[in-house]
Amino acid sequence: MSVFRGHVVDTPDDPFAGGALRSEADAGVVVSDGVIIDRGEFAEVARRHPGEQVVDLRDGVVLPGLVDTHVHYPQLRVIGALGMPLLDWLERCALPEEARFADVAYAQGVAGEFVRALADAGTTSALVFGSHFAPAVDALFEAAQDVGLRVTSGLVLSDRLLRPELHTSAQRAYDEGRQLAERWHGAGRLRYAVTPRFSLSCSDDLLASCTTLHADVPGSWLTSHINENPAEIAKVRELFGGSYLDSYDAHGLVGKRSVFAHNVHATDAELELLGATGAAVSHCPTSNCALGSGLFALERHLRHGVTVALGSDVGAGTGLSLFKEGLQASFVQRLRGADSVPLTPVHLLYLATAAGARALGLQDQVGDLSIGRRFDAVWVRPAQGTQLDVGLRHADSSESAVAKLFALATSADVAGVWVDGQRIKS
Ligand code: GUN
Ligand code: ZN
Repeated sequence: MSVFRGHVVDTPDDPFAGGALRSEADAGVVVSDGVIIDRGEFAEVARRHPGEQVVDLRDGVVLPGLVDTHVHYPQLRVIGALGMPLLDWLERCALPEEARFADVAYAQGVAGEFVRALADAGTTSALVFGSHFAPAVDALFEAAQDVGLRVTSGLVLSDRLLRPELHTSAQRAYDEGRQLAERWHGAGRLRYAVTPRFSLSCSDDLLASCTTLHADVPGSWLTSHINENPAEIAKVRELFGGSYLDSYDAHGLVGKRSVFAHNVHATDAELELLGATGAAVSHCPTSNCALGSGLFALERHLRHGVTVALGSDVGAGTGLSLFKEGLQASFVQRLRGADSVPLTPVHLLYLATAAGARALGLQDQVGDLSIGRRFDAVWVRPAQGTQLDVGLRHADSSESAVAKLFALATSADVAGVWVDGQRIKS
């Protein structure tokens, strides 16, 4: 048993529904077998649990592990290509790099870099777009297991309009997905996600095989892209005849265990269906800005009761830090004008933690640091004299400290990361 002592902040109550920041300047969080069994003011907790090992995290801020609901592992090395719209960027930057993952040694190298970089950024749970090549997906799961991350991922599927080497068939997609799921779904903290790339690159036959696989792997997740860019949306309408969401819904792929990335240009009918089915949307603000995809209509999503969380969308997104995504999400709302949602630091913390846990169906396990949750946590302690260090020392409230985290924190400021009470970054 360990008692973690520090300035603890989290958002157990949804701030979009009136919830406030929970903060304790000198908290004790008691962890036994990875689970939080008690918490409160440190002096009282120490009295209730005398003689237990104390992990002193007093310098800095402790928050729940960050949850990235949309990130592409094979795009780690192409972060930073700016100035192109989606379809050009895919053709020129992302897909040539993804084709390299046919080489399993190459994939293993990137997989190791990727999971390390996720942990360094303070991300403890992630829904990860895998690779088009099954051995490369094995490499990701192996690496995630080694580091100890909570990863949901799967084989990325396409059978048209990408590059021939990235195309599969409906049968092969099912067979390879099934085998991957048998190896990894439910193995420790790992789960399988059926992952059609986007309906633009998926025939009805391929989407139908996704439906079968999703049903045949109980508890599997479904993730894809949606409504990101006008040229892409027009092409999907030409191919399928209806709305973007219809192309998935026609195959029964829109439900509680579905997460769709972007949704920048959604219709009201699509938002209604997302809200009614409980499907979640991953908002990827740095990607949406880098590719010029647009300014996310958060207010309309909230009005329709759609669960929204954050995704880094690396490599179109500009890095793995969810602090940066939170900051960019707030900038995007500032620029939306009439229907903007003013995002406070408390909203940003919620979007980066508890909302992500909800989107991934992990809300009973992680997302906040309540009694009963697993201890997935991040300790931000900047080096002395850095801008963040100065900022935190002069923060006049916990809310202001959280604002400074989102404005200034990078992976370099993340001094410790725990999953299930086990330290994965020192
Ligand atoms: N749509 C289909 N594939 C991708 C991708 O790799 N990145 C983004 N941002 N959108 C996509
Ligand atoms: Zn993406």
